[in-house]
Formats: sequence, C-alpha cells, structure tokens
Amino acid sequence: MAEPRGYDELVRRLAAAVRGASLYNADHPLVRRGIDTLTGLATSALQHDDPIVVGFIGDEVVVNARRLLRSAAMLIGFARDMRERRIEKITIARGVTRDELRWFVIELADRRAARPLAARLEQRGVHRITVGRINVETVEDENAGIQAARRVYGSAVETAETLWQAAKAGDQPDPNAARRIIDSLAKLVSQDRTSLMALTALKKYDSYTFTHMVNVSVLSMAQARALNLEGPMLREFGFAALMHDIGKVNTPLEVLNKPDKLTREEFDVMKQHVVDGAHILRRTPEMPALAPVVAFEHHLRQDLSGYPEKIGHRDLNLCTQIVSIADVYDALRSNRIYREGLPSERIRAIMTQKDSPAFNTRLLRRFINLMGLFPVGTLVRLGTDEVGVVTHEHPMDPFRPQVKILLDRLGERCEEPILANTWETDDRGQFRWAVVEAVDPDAVSLDPLSFMA
Ligand SMILES: [Fe+2]
Ligand SMILES: [Fe+2]
Repeated sequence: MAEPRGYDELVRRLAAAVRGASLYNADHPLVRRGIDTLTGLATSALQHDDPIVVGFIGDEVVVNARRLLRSAAMLIGFARDMRERRIEKITIARGVTRDELRWFVIELADRRAARPLAARLEQRGVHRITVGRINVETVEDENAGIQAARRVYGSAVETAETLWQAAKAGDQPDPNAARRIIDSLAKLVSQDRTSLMALTALKKYDSYTFTHMVNVSVLSMAQARALNLEGPMLREFGFAALMHDIGKVNTPLEVLNKPDKLTREEFDVMKQHVVDGAHILRRTPEMPALAPVVAFEHHLRQDLSGYPEKIGHRDLNLCTQIVSIADVYDALRSNRIYREGLPSERIRAIMTQKDSPAFNTRLLRRFINLMGLFPVGTLVRLGTDEVGVVTHEHPMDPFRPQVKILLDRLGERCEEPILANTWETDDRGQFRWAVVEAVDPDAVSLDPLSFMA
C-alpha cells in the first residue's frame, strides 16, 4: 500500500494541476508539466493500490480510508471546492492514461460548463477516473448518506452547546432538545454508522467541549448497538454519554483549558466535575436515571481506582464502562490546544497497555474491532462463521474489507479460497457478508500472511 506521504503529494499535485488549468491554457508548459508529474505519481501509486479513492469529508481529504496527515491550506481549499461542487469522491483506477488525467484536469477546472462533469468525462473518453458521492452503505432511507450524517452531527453539536450553556447559567438543560438529537443520532448509528463515525473523526480545536459530548455519545451508541442494544435503551445510553461531563460547567476555565500538567489542587477541582454532574442531572426532570450514574462513575476504573475516591464497593454500570472507553478514545484522538490528536495505532497502544485496569478488556477488544481496524493481513471471522484474511481495505468503509475465506463454517480448510467482497449486496439489497471480529491467528493455527499472495 502506498505511503500516506505519496497520497499527500498526489492530491497536492492534482489540486495544483486543476488550479493551473483554470489559470492558463491547457497547452501552457506549466500545465503540461503538472500533468506529467501527476501521471507519474498516479501510475506509481496504482501499482500498490487499485483503485485510489480520494474522498472529501468536511475540510479533510481522505485517500483510501486514510486521512492525509498535513492538511495544508491548499488541501482544505481543494476539499471545500470539491464539496461545494458536490463531488465527494474521485476514483482513479489502474491503467489510467496521461490523456485521461489531462482531460480530467481540464474538465474539472472548467467551472462554466453547463453539462455535468460525469457526462463531460464520458464524452472525452475518460473511463478510469470517476467522480461521485460517498455512499458507504446501501440504505433504503433517502436521508441516509454522509450529507444527512453531517447535518445531524452539526445540529447535535449546536444542541450540545445549548445544553451546556443552560447548565452553566444554573438552569436545567432541556431534556427534550437532548432527546430529539439523540433520536436522530441513534437512527444514524443504526443505519449509517460509517458516515457518522467518519464525522466523529474530524478534528476541531474550537469547540472541543461540544464535539466531545457528541462524539462520546455516538461512539457509545455504536458500541451499544454492536452489543445488540436497540430502541429506548440505546437512546438512554446515548443520552447519558452526551451528558457525562456536564459537571465541568462548574470547572474554572483556567483549569479546564490548562495546557500544562495540573497541580494537585487544580486536579482536585477538576475531579469535582463527576459529583457536580451527577447533581445537575439528578435534579433535571425527565433525565434518564442512567445519566447521573454515568456522570458519577465515568472516571472510575475496573478496580475502582480513579475518582471519586472512597466510594465503597460497587459494580460499574455497563453504560459507564462503554462511555469511559469512548471518552478516553475521543480525548486522545482530538486535537487540543496543547497537542495534536494521536494516530490510531498510538491510541490503541495506550488503551491496551497490559495490566491496565482502566477498561473492561472484553468491551475494549470489541471497541477496537468496531473502530474498523481490520488492516490488510488481519484474520477475521465473518457473520457466516467462516474465517478469512483481509486482502484489501475498502477505500471508504473500513468495516467492509475484501476477505479471502480460508476456513468454512465448520472450521475446515477451504480447498479453493473464495474472495468475499463484504461490501457487495445480493438481489434483495442485503449484504452477503459481514465482518464480525478479528481472530487471533494462533487460535486457528493459520498464518494469515502466507495467504496474501
Ligand atoms: Fe470527565
Ligand atoms: Fe469526557
């Protein structure tokens, strides 16, 4: 697989070529050279990866499911431009020619053309480059898809802010506003989880407090959903997760946003948010009973270390255990004023540190699987109970890789391994396969890498 750096360069060159073609004549030496470079980069990237899918999600550019590391102003501008023109992804397939790239760049740069871009590309004989919308899961509901997810996410963040401000002013947060937003998030978590999860991965500095509330809610509902919780119970989990840090409205900003390590006294002030949160939520009418419990417990570890201290024996609520995983994960992943968000491998390493009593190991393992970390070479079990090795990641949907099936449902070795494209649906629109979990190679005595060729 090509290095993210290579992708970075490829997208930059594409953006530069399009800009060049909009400023100069297509035969201008600058444009010609730009297209030459682009052709070279695309051809070499396509030797490792086919196709290459460049997706635009918010201000981010994602190539083959990897977010580009250095989102320079130019890339942000390019992403916005594409989004405004309703281009959510560009797919480039192996065998693409210089001529196809050239026409693609010229047509993309032409903003005055009346005919749709796809039709113009077709007319130019460009077959190995296509543009389209991101539609990661085939869902009946026409509201589904990344656009709908983005709208719901945006208004959830706004609602989170309103709830926060109300609590800060000493008023009661409006449970009905919260409930409405949880309803739509829950619906999306059930239907179009991938779009929503992609949104929670967007990194923003400015409204961390509110995006964190929404992200923890979404990540908790996704976990709950994977445990087969549905309906009112699922929403109650989402609700409690949304409000987990509400007690921080009483934490002074200089403590809340302090870039350096907190002093002992400051940490004591910070710890107060779990008790304050439980108070606020307990006196809010119509708040689910679970909400104050989760607010109170969410910094307790499995061995009841953490805080609040000296609380005697108790069993942590399942929702608390789910929320604390989502909470730490989102905090590590987000950009803060004082540090950049960490890459998933680092987060994974931190969260799975041996002997750490922080999380419920079983839930944590499920969470890591759920986050779609099925890199190529991972052994996975499918819903059919067959076991196989991931041979390709889906460009946009980390939950639906290509899997080479090695063991049948009885655990017998397949004579002829079958390739399962888990994103494919049957005639009724149902997915034919689903990846359930990663499998430890030792447990089935298989060396996945030997089946990769
Ligand atoms: Fe907290
Ligand atoms: Fe939190």
